[in-house]
Amino acid sequence: MKNYYITTPIYYPSDNLHIGHTYTTVAADSLKKFKQLMGYNVLFVTGTDEHGQKIQQKAEENGTTPKEYVDGIVKDIKKLWEILDISYDEFVRTTDLEHEKTVQKIFNQLYEQGDIYQSNYEGWYCTPCEAFWTESQLEDGKCPDCGREVEWTEEEAYFFKLSKYSDDLIKLFEERPEFLQPESRKNEMLNNFLKTGLEDLCVSRTTFDWGVKVPFNSKHVVYVWLDALICYISALGYGTDNDEKFKQYWPCNVHLVGKEIVRFHTIIWPAVLMALGIELPEKVFGHGWILFEDDKMSKSKGNVIYPEPIIELYGVDVFKYFLLREFTFGQDGSFSREKFLTRVNSDLANDLGNLVSRTVTMVEKYNGGSIPEPTKPGEFDEDLKELAIDVANIVEAKMDKLNFSGALEEIWKLIRRTNKYIDETTPWILAKEENSERLDTVLYNLCESLRITSILIRPFMEKTSDEIMKQLGISNKNISWEDSKKWGIIVSGEKVEKGKPIFPRLDIKKELEKLNAANDKLIKERTKKNKKVEKEEEVDYITIDDFDKIDLKVAEILEVKEHPNADKLLILKVKVGEETRQVVSGIKKYYTPEDLVGKKVVLVANLKPVKLRGEESHGMILAAEEKGNLTLVSTLEDIPSGAKIE
Ligand code: MSP
Repeated sequence: MKNYYITTPIYYPSDNLHIGHTYTTVAADSLKKFKQLMGYNVLFVTGTDEHGQKIQQKAEENGTTPKEYVDGIVKDIKKLWEILDISYDEFVRTTDLEHEKTVQKIFNQLYEQGDIYQSNYEGWYCTPCEAFWTESQLEDGKCPDCGREVEWTEEEAYFFKLSKYSDDLIKLFEERPEFLQPESRKNEMLNNFLKTGLEDLCVSRTTFDWGVKVPFNSKHVVYVWLDALICYISALGYGTDNDEKFKQYWPCNVHLVGKEIVRFHTIIWPAVLMALGIELPEKVFGHGWILFEDDKMSKSKGNVIYPEPIIELYGVDVFKYFLLREFTFGQDGSFSREKFLTRVNSDLANDLGNLVSRTVTMVEKYNGGSIPEPTKPGEFDEDLKELAIDVANIVEAKMDKLNFSGALEEIWKLIRRTNKYIDETTPWILAKEENSERLDTVLYNLCESLRITSILIRPFMEKTSDEIMKQLGISNKNISWEDSKKWGIIVSGEKVEKGKPIFPRLDIKKELEKLNAANDKLIKERTKKNKKVEKEEEVDYITIDDFDKIDLKVAEILEVKEHPNADKLLILKVKVGEETRQVVSGIKKYYTPEDLVGKKVVLVANLKPVKLRGEESHGMILAAEEKGNLTLVSTLEDIPSGAKIE
């Protein structure tokens, strides 16, 4: 059996995923089910990207440890995938011990072979995107990907020699046009990144510690993107004794990703794989974004559409069908509730729902519920049959290009054609005319076309496929895609079983209100939950009595020397009125001893004395800091040391 390996991105555990987030995963799941039906042995990997500065900050805001924070959210994400019937095979968490070990092993190997080296990073960082940017890449001083504020960052760091792989990456894009799809994204990568010259990539951070420790320098944690990308192979046991899955499934057939993260998957990831001597994935597909009425969905704008109310009201198949049918996978699309309800009515209630209900009702009414024998071919039969047995081939071609909406459109051509066949052959007139042989044949053909339809829709709407098979009295076991290319398989004499309408027609006005109200209710509930956390944080206010407890004094710097055991610290001797004392301060990067002697600064005089790397520090000197700049705090006019600051 041929293997097929699909991945979705490794999701950031952000609370409450919206419909846009579910897009990649719903698509991956349908692709898996489609390939499986075609007889492939499919592996589908997803997971969560749990390390990094953003998560550490969020956890602090929530007053929990990062692990506690992510554990809660990962549980919610898994629950959502369950509601959506997502049939992933492996769920990798970047906090899994096995994964962390693989990341360390890879980091070590790249360091030892000279692809990673130590240096200093100076540049901009976008925490929400966890991405490094140079000055010239910023747009109006903001992150070019998300438009948010970036932070100036200066820190000791390890770098991956990305620049070394520039030529090979350009060659990859030129020689393998199918590597990145859709085609349009290729030019963006070539022109915006590859042809302007790649800089080496910073692959470690030191300003926070929530991450995989660099194995030979625990001051550093591995850059989250390197950590997360490695999931695609750590999930297969790469680098462990248990690497059968890696041998079996790698190279990956398709990494499905949203357009904003194509850069990481088609530049950084292939370069890392090249450095490791691992074969490159066959394809990366960068799909478009789902917007809300042409605007980006965001909690602050209050325009987030959650999947849960839609699924609760209309079922998971309706939700999945709409996502994959309405939007063209490679392009952005705009969600609106009107569009959603209109499509449900036209495609599902009118076309498919009606066809099922009409067919089964007529078999019951005209043939006592058993599927008749087709003995009298007639006009329109061949036309229907020819179309029906060819749809699967067209769907295969569309799915090969990950054209989900195109594939569904083809299937719906058959559904509409079959409805038209009813109007053309008018079974009710055949019944009246007692033309029972022809009537039998028409009914048989309708059942047969529906059987084919139930296979064709299976990768996208499994529950609906099951329901149609049940109503047709056929088994949903051992279904094969090839059976959708054959005519005449449904067995005469089998009993149909009429059920409730599978997609009742909706009153759009009423449903709009319901849908709006359900989503708003959920937004309110979720905001309330977040507000609660914010409220708890407000307890941070201090009273004047609290402030009085802090003894701030003017201190004059008498002597300054370097700390013998620390790179960043200076040891200052300061005079506070009549008293002299020693203070250790982390300002060596910003001041030389000569800059400081004779200056008057502000000291927190009653801070409990501590030892910093073996030197006593009695008090703390105040400084102001922003974006990597630091200045000591002083008084506007000169005043004797020991003066109290109130
Ligand atoms: N953690 C990274 C991926 C690391 S992969 C080694 C990440 N995670 S994410 O949670 O932010 O995004 C997960 C997926 O959701 C991405 O494919 C992203 O494009 C997709 N979407 C998030 N919002 C979206 C829309 N509004 N519309 C469509 N998909 C979008 O990125």
